[in-house]
Amino acid sequence: MSDAAHRITLANSDVSFDCDEHDTVLRSALRAGIAFPYECNVGACGNCKFELIEGAVDMKWSDAPAWTDKDRARNRYLGCQCAPRGDCTIRLRPSPQYAPLHAPRRVTGTLAGRRSITHDIEEFRFALSAQMPFEPGQYALLNLPRVSGVRAYSMSNIADEPRMLHFQVRRVPNGRGSSVLFDALETGAQVEIDGPYGMAYLRRNVTRDVLCVAGGSGLAPMISIARGIVAEPALAGVQLHFLYGGRTPRDICGRDMLASLPGFDERIRFEAAVSDAAPGDACDPWTGHVGFVHELADAMFGERLRDMEIYFAGPPAMGQAIQRTLLARKVPFEQVHFDQFY
Ligand SMILES: Cc1cc2nc3c(=O)[nH]c(=O)nc-3n(C[C@H](O)[C@H](O)[C@H](O)COP(=O)(O)OP(=O)(O)OC[C@H]3O[C@@H](n4cnc5c(N)ncnc54)[C@H](O)[C@@H]3O)c2cc1C
Ligand code: FES
Repeated sequence: MSDAAHRITLANSDVSFDCDEHDTVLRSALRAGIAFPYECNVGACGNCKFELIEGAVDMKWSDAPAWTDKDRARNRYLGCQCAPRGDCTIRLRPSPQYAPLHAPRRVTGTLAGRRSITHDIEEFRFALSAQMPFEPGQYALLNLPRVSGVRAYSMSNIADEPRMLHFQVRRVPNGRGSSVLFDALETGAQVEIDGPYGMAYLRRNVTRDVLCVAGGSGLAPMISIARGIVAEPALAGVQLHFLYGGRTPRDICGRDMLASLPGFDERIRFEAAVSDAAPGDACDPWTGHVGFVHELADAMFGERLRDMEIYFAGPPAMGQAIQRTLLARKVPFEQVHFDQFY
């Protein structure tokens, strides 16, 4: 244990782990292999709440949206946003599904290159100081200069290229983290990257046909899933349907990345929908689907959704609409995988 690390014990158990002053309770538990429930890692979902029984913690982001007045009154904290001041005892119910497949680790990433994908999405490629094994569909946390708190970005590559992570980031108007990535980081700049995290990873042992649904910045994890399917011999018989939704035609992307994979247009199929086709170019009018991507999924597959393994990523409104569609179609919960973007 380093000098600045404190011991966290789970109440009514013999489980304990160390947390250093630069870490959070959630992340240090996952590093120790403990199945600590979570989802976003950025203070928004509330899945990582625990009750503090003994000791004291500091909330790194006291305005985190998921930390309510009721939580404060009941001594409940967000594991992803707090660090211990000394040894602590906490009440938490670990849940086996959250046991990390790869223990998260902190490495240095050097910006090695970037390229434009659409008018507001770019790919950023980081070379790592050490390996970070991960599953297709997982995400990492970037500690960006002059930005308080970390930002979650999903990998778009797969782990076949050791020590490289690719992220596809949408520029968010006035967003602090995405602005630093787009405007301030030069090639060669170094940032701390912590990962992998996330539960919406490719299930390699399930041989149902796969539906990936992406919208906006949700492209990256779905592309990683597609690449993972192609690279996994156990999934050789799986058909992949990839749907992408955007607001206007200039938002649509992803086809070229899938087209470079073996089996495109045979076992891999791509369809795109725009919710607003109006500002079309008279010389190059939009001829694809018009509507929301969850409507496209329902229209294309209907009852068949129940027989598919489904992954999705994108803006919260898209995620909620897809969940409603899948619920209405009675798709079993365990066939649906997503980490909500916040
Ligand atoms: C699991 C997951 C995966 C994601 N993957 C992608 C992806 O692949 N591509 C992509 O473009 N976007 C992705 N996002 C969204 C991304 O993390 C950012 O929310 C987005 O880029 C906007 O960040 P910003 O800093 O530009 O905007 P801001 O509005 O400045 O920041 C918003 C984000 O930062 C967090 N935040 C704000 N202040 C603090 C603080 N003081 N301390 C801690 N956290 C703070 C918020 O919870 C929110 O997540 C993902 C989000 C999640 C949760
Ligand atoms: S609020 Fe901590 S994991 Fe989402």
